[in-house]
Formats: sequence, C-alpha cells, structure tokens
Amino acid sequence: MSDATIIDGKAFAAKLRERVSAAVVKVKADSGITPGLAVVLVGNDPASNVYVSSKAKQTAECGMESFEHRLDESTDEGTLLTLIDKLNNDNKVNGILVQLPLPSQIDEQKVLSAINPDKDVDGFHTTNVGRLWTGGDALVPCTPFGCSVLLKDFLGSLSGKNAIVVGRSNIVGKPMAALLLAESCTVTIAHSRTDDLPGKCREADILIAAVGRPEMIKGDWIKPGATVIDVGINRIDAPERGLKEDGSVKTRLVGDVEFDSAVKVAGAITPVPGGVGPMTIACLLRNAVVACCRQNGLADPGI
Ligand code: GUN
Repeated sequence: MSDATIIDGKAFAAKLRERVSAAVVKVKADSGITPGLAVVLVGNDPASNVYVSSKAKQTAECGMESFEHRLDESTDEGTLLTLIDKLNNDNKVNGILVQLPLPSQIDEQKVLSAINPDKDVDGFHTTNVGRLWTGGDALVPCTPFGCSVLLKDFLGSLSGKNAIVVGRSNIVGKPMAALLLAESCTVTIAHSRTDDLPGKCREADILIAAVGRPEMIKGDWIKPGATVIDVGINRIDAPERGLKEDGSVKTRLVGDVEFDSAVKVAGAITPVPGGVGPMTIACLLRNAVVACCRQNGLADPGI
C-alpha cells in the first residue's frame, strides 16, 4: 500500500487566515468596527511567550486590533480578575484569551469563569462547554475546532464513522469528542486507563491523538486507511542532529503518533510540525471575528 496523504495544516491555516482577513475588511466596511482581540500572559514561560507573540502578530496581520497584556509571574489573582473585568467592559475588545498555564497562586477555573462567555474565544467557559454539548451557538476551543475543519475538508461527511479521541483534556479531548459527535461519528474517548488501547485504536476510521506523550501511538495501532490527526507537540532530544552551541544536545518536535510507522498504514495523516499547530491560531482569529459579529448584531461571517 502506498504511504498516507499528508494533510497540510500549514497551507490550510494560511487559507483560513485569508478568509478571516476578508471577513475583517467586510465587518469594517459594513459597520466601521475593527474586531479586537486581547491576549493576557502571566509570567515568563518560554513556550507561552512564543505563542502569545505569535497570536498578537497574526491578529494584527489579519487587520484586527491586538491588545497584549503581559503581567509579572508574581501577579495575584485579584489583579488578574480586575484586568478581566476591564476587558469584559471594553467594547473595543471582542475576544479575551488568557494564556494557560497560569502560575500556581492563581485559580485557573476562577479566572476562566470570570471571562464574559461571549468574549471567550478559547471556548473554555462552562457556558460555552454547555452550548457545545447541547448544540448551541458556542465559541469552540481552537485546537479541536481546527482538527474538525481539517477532517471535514479531507473526508467530506464524517457521518457514521468510528472515531477515537485519545486524551480527555478540557482543552482538546473532551471538546473534540463533542465536535465529532455533532458530525454524527460514533465516538470513543480513550485515556491512560483504557483497556487494550491499541485494539480500540485499530477499530477507528478517525484517530485523534491528544495525549502529550511523544510517539506513543504506533503504526500497528492504526486501521489501514484511517485518517490520523496528531495534536501532540513534544520536544525530544535528537542526538543524531549533534550539539547546540552551548554543548547541549539538539532537539526536535514530534507528535503523539510515531509518524514513520503510521504513515505506512494510515490513509491520511497530519505531520508535526505543520499539521494541527498552525490551525489553532487561525481558528482563534476566526473565533474573534465571529464573537465581534455576534456582539454587534452583524451577520455571521461564514468562516
Ligand atoms: N495553552 C495551551 N494551549 C492553549 C490554548 O489553546 N489556549 C490558552 N488560552 N492557553 C493555552
């Protein structure tokens, strides 16, 4: 059998950003409003720093207003809640994203609950979780939304397919399962305690890997011809690449799926990097425009 089709998330995300930019132009022309997205980072986590800068840059590139708030690692919960209250009441801010994880002195759930659900572009507020599971007008978490967009683009209808989601996080696994169910898949949510995980995976026409364990899912766990979406972004040592200038070993990014064995069995697969990753920010920008339209009584931008 020939190797799997590689699903190019990077190219798809670029197309999605073009559609977001066009929607922003239309919103401005129709209403004079410029959609605005606020991103809040507490502390100096290097990965979060990169994500937040990237989000701010892409927000501006799509013609939206970007509001960046960087707070010290020692920031207390009250200060953060005061900022969120201010952003909730600022009508130039249509979307609010608080980068996770937060420092340990701050109660994450309390912070997420303080965000106005209609500005919750991450879709983490329990109101949006409830809307998602009950078929309402939710703002949907960006990473699973991006996976669903890629799947529908590649497969067309997902109706009746067996889907397995490996991972049960609030950010990816659970909302992913809700989205697949809404597309009429038969959904299994698997996790670290699942009995015979390889066997369960082998039954799936669609496999979503979101466990955060480098290369855990092997080629022989995959049903021949299945569509595999790898959400994992894991940095591992790559001694074969030699040493960095500081003498430490070079690293590389891998997914939760062992790509080299999986690509020989799957029908289609997303690579890491260049698969799901770039879709996440593109979907965030899309959510910000959708939120802006809903808040201002404008037609849904259809992206
Ligand atoms: N940290 C890792 N992923 C995410 C995400 O999707 N949203 C936020 N706010 N923080 C994250």
